[in-house]
Amino acid sequence: MTDNLVSAALNARQNAHTPFSKFKVGAAVEDDSGRVYTGCNVENATFGLTMCAERVAIFKAVSEGARRFVRVAVVADTEKLTPPCGACRQILWEFCGDVEIVLANLNGKTETLRLGTLFPRAFDASFL
Ligand code: THU
Repeated sequence: MTDNLVSAALNARQNAHTPFSKFKVGAAVEDDSGRVYTGCNVENATFGLTMCAERVAIFKAVSEGARRFVRVAVVADTEKLTPPCGACRQILWEFCGDVEIVLANLNGKTETLRLGTLFPRAFDASFL
């Protein structure tokens, strides 16, 4: 069975701008109305200004008014499934909380887990 969110992340991955690492990542987030927003990693010659696929997807969604998310998908070409980096986990937590995340690779391997598993005891607005 095809997972639409994984397919969207897979398609977005094709747009990754990765002349430096050649490591292409695609991400997709689904909001509570079923709308899907996608992102790919966008690298920069300074390296440090590189933006990950997950943050591109979330920022696109938030900038278009989406606020509540039900699922996230991340796709990369790795046998061991690629999880969101630390910075992306923090940003995902801010907007998605303990959301369901599907990790996938190009061979159709997938794993579904929750953000709270990847990012326990997060710092968030509840501390402010
Ligand atoms: N990357 C992502 O897009 N998402 C992640 O969660 C892990 C890392 C990108 C950033 C950079 O363009 C490349 O993968 C190698 O780190």
